[in-house]
Amino acid sequence: MNLFDVYPINDVTIVKAKGSYVWDDKGEQYLDLYGGHAVISIGHTHPHWVKRMEEQLEKIAFYSNSVKIPLQTELAQKLGKISGKEDYQLFLCNSGAEANENALKLASFHNGRKKIIAFSKSFHGRTSLAVAATDNKNYVAPVNETSNVIFLPFNDEQALEDCFKENGKKISSVIIEGIQGVGGINVASENFLRKIRILCDEYGAVYIADSVQCGYGRSGKFFSHDFAGVNADIYTMAKGMGNGFPVAGIIVSPIFKPKHFILGTTFGGNHLACAAALAVLEVIEEEKLMGNAVMVGKYLKDELENILQLKNIRGRGLMIGFDVPEELKDLRKNLLWNQKIFTGEAKPNVIRLLPSLALKKRDAEQFVDAITEEIQNLVSVENTVNQ
Ligand SMILES: Cc1ncc(COP(=O)(O)O)c(C=O)c1O
Repeated sequence: MNLFDVYPINDVTIVKAKGSYVWDDKGEQYLDLYGGHAVISIGHTHPHWVKRMEEQLEKIAFYSNSVKIPLQTELAQKLGKISGKEDYQLFLCNSGAEANENALKLASFHNGRKKIIAFSKSFHGRTSLAVAATDNKNYVAPVNETSNVIFLPFNDEQALEDCFKENGKKISSVIIEGIQGVGGINVASENFLRKIRILCDEYGAVYIADSVQCGYGRSGKFFSHDFAGVNADIYTMAKGMGNGFPVAGIIVSPIFKPKHFILGTTFGGNHLACAAALAVLEVIEEEKLMGNAVMVGKYLKDELENILQLKNIRGRGLMIGFDVPEELKDLRKNLLWNQKIFTGEAKPNVIRLLPSLALKKRDAEQFVDAITEEIQNLVSVENTVNQ
């Protein structure tokens, strides 16, 4: 049997990882500023994470949600404390798409409405409702098409207000990433998020903060939506939550009253997943990783600002993006193959940095030197061609 070939892959086989570094099967070392799509939050194979997982494996890895799982309660308490949302309630699942799917469904159960507002360049996942709220036609199969999703321009307060005026009490929820990831690192303005809060309150709609990529401390605050100083009704989480072990969830405000069977999952919240998620929170707290994300992120952004050829440096904490001009289109590839540094991309011309929140300043310095060198090389090749 062959693999179903749906991913464009780099010709490299990673066999070992530690902190912000990975090694291939030939022993070559790479600096990982991508974290496999923002997943590695506390660093690869962190010793505390490994120990907690190993200890849990020796006891029990899985049982379903038909029995008490005290680790879930422990996780909910810890998450409430670190996120500052202690009165919220936690529902655990397995992936970002599933988290958003559950959030959109819960909103609709709650207010009995059908319409969802989503924004240009949004990405919310691949399952039916999540992909319907994703602004990329290539991911939407005919069966996912629905007239229930209204797309509006990102950060456009007037368009949002007009839409609410027109559709009033038909709007079930508004779903927004605090910082768009796949869309190219676009930060939602604080005023825009506040406007969403005001309009949702006025019309009885649910504000869903997709924090799958921008959450879990990556921005320097636990949820990047928190910069606006208002609470969302539901936060969705995945990626950094398990540092590579698949675990996801939603936290929902006290306005939602639970009812048996409205949500459910076989694997979600299993013992091993909870151990991974707890280990991540313990390390974020113990090693003050949100502070580190602010500090190293600021250093990176400031240094990148000084590189003339790079445009529109943006993002928060350790979620950074910048535009690469056409003549430097090989930059990301050259960083990987010449400098052995993984970075992320967003179409058509954005480089995304999504490293571990434990990235050290000296690793950031290595990246700045490497990108400066690669840009110089590309510029001198371009000059030679043009002579
Ligand atoms: C903002 C956002 N939401 C949802 C998802 C979907 O997450 P998953 O791939 O775990 O289903 C992603 C994945 O990239 C994402 O970036």
